[in-house]
Amino acid sequence: MNIPFMRLDRQFAAHKDAYMAAVERVFTHGRVLQGPEVGEFEERLASFFGLAGAAAVGSGTDALVLALRAAGLQLGGKVAVTSLSFVASASAIALAGGKPVFVDIEPEHNLNREDVLLELVDKRAVDAVIVVHLYGQMAETQDLRRLARERGVIVIEDAAQALGATRHGNAPGRDAHAVCLSFDPTKVIGAQGSGGMVLSADADLMERVRRLRYHGLDKGHPEGRVYSEIGHNSQLPTVQASLLNVKMDHEAEWRARRTAIASAYTAALDSHPLLTPPQVREGNTHIFHKYVLRAPGIRDDLAAHLKAQGIGTAVHYTKGLHEQPCFADKHELAGDMVEVGRACGEVLSLPIYPELTDGEVGEVCTALGAYTV
Ligand SMILES: Cc1ncc(COP(=O)(O)O)c(C=O)c1O
Repeated sequence: MNIPFMRLDRQFAAHKDAYMAAVERVFTHGRVLQGPEVGEFEERLASFFGLAGAAAVGSGTDALVLALRAAGLQLGGKVAVTSLSFVASASAIALAGGKPVFVDIEPEHNLNREDVLLELVDKRAVDAVIVVHLYGQMAETQDLRRLARERGVIVIEDAAQALGATRHGNAPGRDAHAVCLSFDPTKVIGAQGSGGMVLSADADLMERVRRLRYHGLDKGHPEGRVYSEIGHNSQLPTVQASLLNVKMDHEAEWRARRTAIASAYTAALDSHPLLTPPQVREGNTHIFHKYVLRAPGIRDDLAAHLKAQGIGTAVHYTKGLHEQPCFADKHELAGDMVEVGRACGEVLSLPIYPELTDGEVGEVCTALGAYTV
């Protein structure tokens, strides 16, 4: 049996003609940066999220940096963020000139502790908050946004792992200054390379993101090329947008398939005495960008058992961000991070992509069911 943790080759094989036709159209018209497919992709995502503005950028990391800058984060500003996430959720804060203030998770859903975020905002102990919608389900944002508005605190949603997720029927971004996406190849809608996006209902914020993504250029300035602030060069290549447009045609179908695979895994784990399947928070639609189980005390042994049967797994994440050397003297802690530490020793991610066959899903379920210590 060989069931790798990820495999993009099957997706390519299934949609090769559409991908190659999209690439050929871009190479033929030749507008390889800011071509029409970029605008089409932006409009499509703005409508998907129900937000007025969308700007495609070079990566999810850039999206977070630009959103923080455009929302007005000042040099040295403090930004609360979960310690259980991909490194970019916090490195973007430092790159935007701020300082991460790490918060712990609530262990059931692995999401940032909302009570801690609310307290930090209430006391105005932070200037901004990044809410991470981890693994494919959304954290709560409504009360946070209401309080943040009163206290003048910036709220950015990191929905890199949550395209298609909803909470009480709403997509990410409704309760924030901006929401950021990643189209990294591991994502549910992934580029053949890097890509990201900032979306917001705030027209001024979006105008600033567009300026910052291209060197701070003031488009349409009467004096010609005027660069009004120091910007980045962070663009989504047209060819990537053309592929992402094709992939968006399959978003609902792929999401349904991942959800079906997740249900099969959960059915296999529900009666297992040692393993706990991921919990879906009430009111959430989980897109299972990642299927992350908990295996207290036996995680590495379980990974070895699955590996011996040709099943690839991964750990998201091996360390809390507060323990990563890159943040060593550049962060603050809002709590003891006990639950993040526990999660890092227990979590294991199973292969979950739409191209897994029913037979392969069955093999993973059998291997899980057969696991004993
Ligand atoms: C939660 C989260 N935030 C931010 C990022 C950064 O995105 P990118 O890799 O496109 O820079 C990622 C993914 O890679 C992510 O999973």
